[in-house]
This record gives sequence, C-alpha cells and structure tokens, in this order.
Amino acid sequence: MTVHPLLASRWSPRRLDPDQVLTREDLRTLLEAARWAPSSGNTQPTRYVVALRGEPLHARLLGTLKRGNRTWAGRAAALVVLVVLEHDETGRDLPSGRHDAGQAAAHLSLQAEAQGLHAHQMSGFDGDAVREAAGLTEVQRPVVVVAVGAEGGPPLDERLAAREAEPRTRRPLAELLLPGRQAYDAVVLAGGQARRLGGVDKPGLEVGGRSLLDRVLAASAGAAVRVVVGPPRELPGDVVQVREDPPGGGPVPALRAGLAEVRSPWVVVLAADLPFLDAGVLDGLLAAAQDRDGALLVDDAGHEQWLCGAWRTAALVPALAALQGARLREALVPLDPVHVRTQASPAPWLDCDTEDDLAAARRQT
Ligand SMILES: Cc1cc2nc3c(=O)[nH]c(=O)nc-3n(C[C@H](O)[C@H](O)[C@H](O)COP(=O)(O)O)c2cc1C
Repeated sequence: MTVHPLLASRWSPRRLDPDQVLTREDLRTLLEAARWAPSSGNTQPTRYVVALRGEPLHARLLGTLKRGNRTWAGRAAALVVLVVLEHDETGRDLPSGRHDAGQAAAHLSLQAEAQGLHAHQMSGFDGDAVREAAGLTEVQRPVVVVAVGAEGGPPLDERLAAREAEPRTRRPLAELLLPGRQAYDAVVLAGGQARRLGGVDKPGLEVGGRSLLDRVLAASAGAAVRVVVGPPRELPGDVVQVREDPPGGGPVPALRAGLAEVRSPWVVVLAADLPFLDAGVLDGLLAAAQDRDGALLVDDAGHEQWLCGAWRTAALVPALAALQGARLREALVPLDPVHVRTQASPAPWLDCDTEDDLAAARRQT
C-alpha cells in the first residue's frame, strides 16, 4: 500500500507563477476544504484573511514576512493568513486551537494540490505586523501565512533555486515511533558453557561491583515479566527462572523455554553478559520494531547482535517453533529485523566472552 498520490505529490515550492490568477471558484473551493477540517469539539476556531495579488493587502502582508520569505512570496496568487481564536464567544479557552488551525492548513494544502495549485505555509512573519496589516483583534492570533499559487514563472535566484532542487526528505518512520510504554517481557539467556572463560558461571561474574546478570536485569526492569533461562540462581523474587531442555542445550531450547513464560505482545531477548546494556537501548529497540516483527542491535562494524533484540511475540513464537536446526539466527533472519545502531558509550553490545573482554569491561566502569 502506498501513500495517496495527493499526499505524496504535495510540496511547498517557492517558484510560483507571478502571472497566474486565482479564480474566485478556486479560492472558494480552497477555503471550503479548510472549513471542513475537523476541530476539537467542532469549535472551528480558525479564521481566514485572504489577499489576492494586486490588492493592497497582498503587498502589506508581504511586508510582514521575514526577509527570506519576502524574496519569493510576492509571486503568490493569494496570501492567506490562518488566524486562530484564543477564546470562544463565551471567553472559554480553546486549547486545541493551534492544532485545529494546522488541520485547516493541511486541508487547504491538499485541496490546492488537487486543483493543480500549491500552498506554501510560512511561520516566518512578524506577528504584530500581521495583526496590524490584517486588522486582527486581541483574541485573533495569526498562526501561519500561506502562499497559494501555481508553480512556474521566472527562475528563482541561485541560492533559492538550489534549495528548491534538493530532494525532499523525511526522517525514517523507525526514528519517529516512540515505544509508548509498550508492554514487553524480557527473556535473558543465562545458560551457556563459558568455555573461553574456563567454564565459570559467566552471568555471575562481576563488573563494576554487580554481576553481569544483575546488570542485564536492571536494564530490563521495565519489562512486565523478566525470565532468566539457565541453572538455578538466587534472583530477585519477581524474576521467573526456567531451565532449558536439555540443560545446556544452547540458545534455541533456552529461548523456547523462556518464551513459554512470555505473555506481553513484545519480548526482548538478551544475553546475560552485556554489562553496558541499559533501558534506553531497549526502548530504542522496542520503538524501532513497532512497524516490523523485530529490531536488532548492530555493533559499530555492522555485526548483528542476535542476543540483543526486541521481537513481536506473535512472530517470534511460531518462528522458533518451526525451526528445525540449532541455529537461532535461522529463526530470526526471516523476521527481517530492523537494524538499530547506537553511539552510546560504553557500547551496549560489548559482551564478555574472554578474560580480555571482561578486563576491558571492568576498566570502563
Ligand atoms: C507551520 C509551518 C511553517 C513554515 N514556515 C516556512 C517559512 O517561513 N518559510 C518557508 O520557506 N517555508 C516554511 N514552511 C515550509 C516547510 O519548510 C516545508 O513544509 C518543509 O520543508 C517540508 O517540505 P515540503 O512541504 O515541500 O514537503 C513552513 C511549513 C509549516 C508547516
């Protein structure tokens, strides 16, 4: 599914045709579209001041704009000031007023696009000067001046023309989604043989005066349920402990055992040896995963950290159930997790596989 063509094609040009004239019909339709915008409680707090090119008000409004806007906005067939009422007729506040005016501006912009026109919104103006030019009262606050017109006419000066030619960009959706306190559980895999550390109980090793497992549990304190998979240990009372079958059978049976305890729609799956993991990293993973089935931390070299990810429970459980082999990543790759990078220091992906890793981690606390 793609965004509607009207939304996709809308943009805010500056090279407007200085000869194009807006018909009465066109103008009325634009304002009708704005009038039909939704507003809080249908209070309809937006008002409009319209000036057509050639009218004295157009020139006066142009004079109220900041210098950068003044260089091009005079070409607009119409300048429309969107004004919001600070109170209704009874003196009651309209706390959503500016939002409602924004909705009206969006309606007007899209209607313009549908009519083969463009609406370029501007907040670069002197509010008092607009008030004065448009004869607004104390309770009428100018929100935005909209330059309406058709694209065309002589080229803009070099600097503006270059800006105009730049590709339109937006931040990726993953960056815009906040976790919104999504209910999530945490499964911490704390089995393993720690061969390169002489077979010690790795999650029990201390960094900065706290065991590695304690540190991971602290990072995931926001989870509704925290499940630790591995040999029995002394753990906080609210932490669920389970054992993989067979014991020491590796991450796949361990995760299966852990997932059996998960009830939340999201689950973070974590190694127990990440001394610098923190809640912020988990929030970032959960946020990034929202429009996908999962998100995975990648290190500065781009390596995927399979045991530091957030997953949609309803996707992870069947993926793991269907897995034939013993390689966890074979279940996770098809879920196409979004990769999450972080500049955090010390790096949250640092794990403790060797004595050197451990010594390095201890130096950084
Ligand atoms: C409330 C608001 C104020 C804006 N103010 C200005 C402005 O003063 N001058 C300007 O050139 N563009 C202004 N813009 C246009 C934005 O820069 C433009 O919408 C944004 O860069 C995205 O580009 P697009 O509309 O072509 O997608 C404004 C847009 C909005 C919504």
